[in-house]
Amino acid sequence: MELVLSEYHQKRWEEFKLFADSELDRGGQFPHENLKKAGERGYMGLPIPQAWGGKGEDFLTYILMLEEVSRVCASTGVILSVHTSVATFPLLYFGSDEQKNRFLPDLASGKLLGAFALTEAGAGSDAAALAATATIVAGGYLLNGSKMFITGGGEADLFTVFATLDRSLGSKGITAFLVEKGCPGLVAGPPERKMGLNRSHTAEIRMEDLFIPASNRLGDEKAGFNIAMALLDGGRIGIAAQGLGLARAALEFTIKHLKKQERAGIKTGQWSAFVVADLAAKAEAARLLIYKAAKAKDSRSSCTREASMAKVFATDLAMDAATKCLDLCHSAGCGENNPLNRYFCDAKAPQIYEGSNQIQRIVVARELLRQFNLS
Ligand code: CAA
Repeated sequence: MELVLSEYHQKRWEEFKLFADSELDRGGQFPHENLKKAGERGYMGLPIPQAWGGKGEDFLTYILMLEEVSRVCASTGVILSVHTSVATFPLLYFGSDEQKNRFLPDLASGKLLGAFALTEAGAGSDAAALAATATIVAGGYLLNGSKMFITGGGEADLFTVFATLDRSLGSKGITAFLVEKGCPGLVAGPPERKMGLNRSHTAEIRMEDLFIPASNRLGDEKAGFNIAMALLDGGRIGIAAQGLGLARAALEFTIKHLKKQERAGIKTGQWSAFVVADLAAKAEAARLLIYKAAKAKDSRSSCTREASMAKVFATDLAMDAATKCLDLCHSAGCGENNPLNRYFCDAKAPQIYEGSNQIQRIVVARELLRQFNLS
């Protein structure tokens, strides 16, 4: 498989770098302005076919955009990733034509922001244990329950929500629904106070006798778990790109700091060289894993193993890079408003969300065992 970028991808990557460096702001509240600018350039629907209002780019191009956006603002990165991979793709892959017509063009243009509501207080890693219920009523369903840690929860316009028709069936009882902001019975909590990614406005959403018409059920009844898993494969490649963007940001900050020290006549020592060299090599390795996963996704073969490998490697690298770069930069990196401090705080959640890195290792091991034939 060819892993270097084509001339076209290289050109797009340069454009994304320029966009991220010159257009995006890095601090403050929910990044409405960043998302508006992304929407104006078509980045809210980059891999969505033109027929549905997107740019019709491949998944690799979208991943290049996420890496660059995340290098500058990882909160904007995760919002874009969730919006596209697990909130817009559900419609593209599993929506009826009527649902696609109703939502896809507005999601792809950025007029609507999408979110993904799977996680609950008692169902994080074990997603099949979710307790939110869907009850069949005349004309549709009543949803009840609560969803936790929803990226963009208080800001999103359309949620892909997972609820069970029969909890005793485990993963086989789960159904997916399209839930629109403003529906009576849908309540979004305030943004959680987190250690990092504070602009992504993670929030709880509660559903209290929330009526959903049958026309807003996504896919078949009780097919929701497989839908969630299939979506998360793509989502995890986006989070891997976010990790790589963060790792690069920490490394670039540190290299600039070391150069300034050298210029000031302060010896940086061999240890610094070893750290920087190792991190740079690992960033290249992460890049290859991510490109391989994105190309597997583009070729429409299953990308489960590649996505999980890329997610583990790149997000563990982000945390490792931020930690080691802080060790190297000391006081030059740990001030409250220092970018390196932000990269360190932002790097933790990507190891946890879209399936913790422990879960990713289980997914990879299962895939390997499945492929290994003993006969
Ligand atoms: N693609 C399609 N289907 C899949 C699949 C995949 N990658 N993985 C599993 N499935 C299907 C299986 O084939 C099986 O279907 P059948 O019964 O029809 O054969 C069904 O799903 C159940 O599979 P498992 O028995 O493997 O399920 P499990 O209960 O053992 O769980 C798990 C597997 C991998 C641990 C899963 O629970 C998991 O991924 N957990 C992590 C949850 C997660 O990632 N949450 C992310 C929250 S969203 C978020 O973080 C977004 C954000 O805001 C940043």
